[in-house]
Amino acid sequence: MRICVIGTGYVGLVTGCGLAEFGMKVTCVDKVVEKIDMLQRGELPIYEPGLKDLMEKNVTSGRLKFSTNIPEAIRNNLVLFLAVGTPSDEDGGADLRHLFTAVEEIAENINDYKVIAIKSTVPVGTAKQVIQRISKRAPDATFDVVSNPEFLREGSAVEDFLHPNRVVIGTNSKQATAIMKDIYSPLYLIETPFVITNNETAEMIKYASNTFLAAKISYINEVANICELVGADVHVVARAMGLDGRISRKFLHPGPGFGGSCFPKDTRALYHLAKKKGYDPVMISSVIHVNERQKRRMVEKIKRRVGGDLNGKLIGVLGVSFKPNTDDIRESPAIFVMKKLLEAGASVQAFDPAAMKEARKVFHEAISYVEDAYEAANGADALVLMTEWNQFRGLDLQELKTRMRSPIFVDTRNVYDPQKMEQAGFIYEGVGR
Ligand code: UDX
Repeated sequence: MRICVIGTGYVGLVTGCGLAEFGMKVTCVDKVVEKIDMLQRGELPIYEPGLKDLMEKNVTSGRLKFSTNIPEAIRNNLVLFLAVGTPSDEDGGADLRHLFTAVEEIAENINDYKVIAIKSTVPVGTAKQVIQRISKRAPDATFDVVSNPEFLREGSAVEDFLHPNRVVIGTNSKQATAIMKDIYSPLYLIETPFVITNNETAEMIKYASNTFLAAKISYINEVANICELVGADVHVVARAMGLDGRISRKFLHPGPGFGGSCFPKDTRALYHLAKKKGYDPVMISSVIHVNERQKRRMVEKIKRRVGGDLNGKLIGVLGVSFKPNTDDIRESPAIFVMKKLLEAGASVQAFDPAAMKEARKVFHEAISYVEDAYEAANGADALVLMTEWNQFRGLDLQELKTRMRSPIFVDTRNVYDPQKMEQAGFIYEGVGR
């Protein structure tokens, strides 16, 4: 089967490589020439474990190629995946400009029956708009629009694509359903559950899933904040909660709040959609509110621990990416915290195993960029662990302590044990400990 994937961001690239791995002939296209040039040179514009090997293997096998000629790719392929960015717009709704630009190009070049598969996360009702736009622009065109949301986590996107725990297909067309099942037949054969439904329901499944996961995080952060006030240990609370199969232990790690390109965007988009339809989504609003407040609470923790005034203090920051194993800093709590520290007159020296280049694009010369966790401790009034990279898990505590001006350790991911830190002579602050 011949497939075109429009958009070579982390969803488009993983989808393109994954579908080629399933045996499809895939052309990944993007209008950003530099990106395609990089990909044609075998370089990856993003950091995603395992993706480079998957890409090389499928390019070598001749199943995967890259092109900037979008009209040609539209004409030559049966299934057109839309994997363009759908960021938040200023009022929290999803900005669908890139999506509709791609849809226009499809309408202009559609030359035969096509299945247009929307992989990007889009508000409920978008598939219907896509159908209307193409039908208006190309009244004689025969096509179906399928909603095929992704559930990829950055840092494990390749694994999540090749071994999803479900495939969601939204369409009313039997022909399109059959084609999509063919595409995902390697998964069908290993009994991956398929949810076949209409477009609106498929679109809602994505938002409902992500918002629920975000709600779990805001919930455990709220419990952690209450634990701090009553002397309970949220670590133990979360572990005991997770032993209840209905709750599950996943996504119950308290921290500085969720970041990334999905949860913040998707929770806002679902909130905005509900409001636009005249419903007041109180719970979703709270998920967002708790999350925004959690980042601010981290700044307050640091400020309190350094004596109430951040002005003139030197703060070492461990981790800038929004989560480990990615260089993505979009809506990263670390970025928010560092900006607030600078605003309060503190100096910041930061280290991240993968996101230093991305951090420079935001902070330029406003912070110092150091080579490792120990350098981040040099002369620091406090050390703040923002992202739980593995290399931050077994640090030599005495080495850190001798380098620091004062042994204050703010652990926003509860990586370290409070007792052990206090025995090592640190003033330790966790979340909900
Ligand atoms: C998420 C969803 O997991 C994925 O299914 C969807 O397709 C895209 O959005 P992603 O944003 O890549 O994936 O990362 P995820 O691992 O879900 O973490 C999101 C944020 O929540 C990160 O900032 C992470 O640090 C935070 N988080 C996650 C917590 O604070 N506590 C947790 O227990 C889990």
